Amino acid sequence: MNQAIDGAFSLRALDAAHDLRAFDCKRNEEMDTWLRKSALRSHESDVTRVFVAADANNRALGFFTLSGYCLEVEVLPNGDSKKLLSRRDAKSTVPAHYIGRLAVDKNHQGGDLGKFLMDAAFLKYAQILKLTTSSYLCLDAQNPGLVDYYKKFGFKPTPKEVSQGAPIPMYLKSSAIKTWVNALNSEGSHL
Ligand SMILES: CC(C)(COP(=O)(O)OP(=O)(O)OC[C@H]1O[C@@H](n2cnc3c(N)ncnc32)[C@H](O)[C@@H]1OP(=O)(O)O)[C@@H](O)C(=O)NCCC(=O)NCCS
Repeated sequence: MNQAIDGAFSLRALDAAHDLRAFDCKRNEEMDTWLRKSALRSHESDVTRVFVAADANNRALGFFTLSGYCLEVEVLPNGDSKKLLSRRDAKSTVPAHYIGRLAVDKNHQGGDLGKFLMDAAFLKYAQILKLTTSSYLCLDAQNPGLVDYYKKFGFKPTPKEVSQGAPIPMYLKSSAIKTWVNALNSEGSHL
């Protein structure tokens, strides 16, 4: 599947034709190194799905990853976690999915590409929901600046205490993503 957005870039699952060599998101070297050295292996061995926005020459401009996940119920606010834990078949985790990585090349930051990638992740997640159950889409924000960024998409940070400098778990209910995707579809999204 190759979806063109205004002819500027296209999104598809990572493959060997993608040129990852020059990718540089500036703020997170581990992200760049992982994309160049490990992403294809991880994708092909079903550890995580990698989706890449690339230009007409296949150069990667941005990417995100999606994988299955078990959300620890105790990360959620007390009201939600108590409700889940009071069910007869209660477990300490709920089925979820996880955006493990999201990055945009430094030359394309501050534009629409980050939102485009998140919209694409939500659309992929909505497809997953048609095949299997999943209560939340989750991610770990690496610092408070990124918490603010992800809040723009509706993600909520855990209200539980997180040790200083540790990633901040964030989550978004499937129902909210379905609403987001319905809005994208009714706007006639190109995705
Ligand atoms: C996060 C990212 C994909 C967003 O791309 P974008 O939509 O083009 O948005 P911008 O680059 O303009 O960043 C949006 C905001 O997040 C902040 N931000 C982005 N990456 C950040 C980081 N690693 N640490 C702290 N803040 C960060 C920016 O300063 C900006 O804040 P502002 O809105 O107050 O100016 C992109 O900034 C990126 O690739 N960052 C580096 C990789 C990364 O940290 N990924 C997230 C890991 S959880």
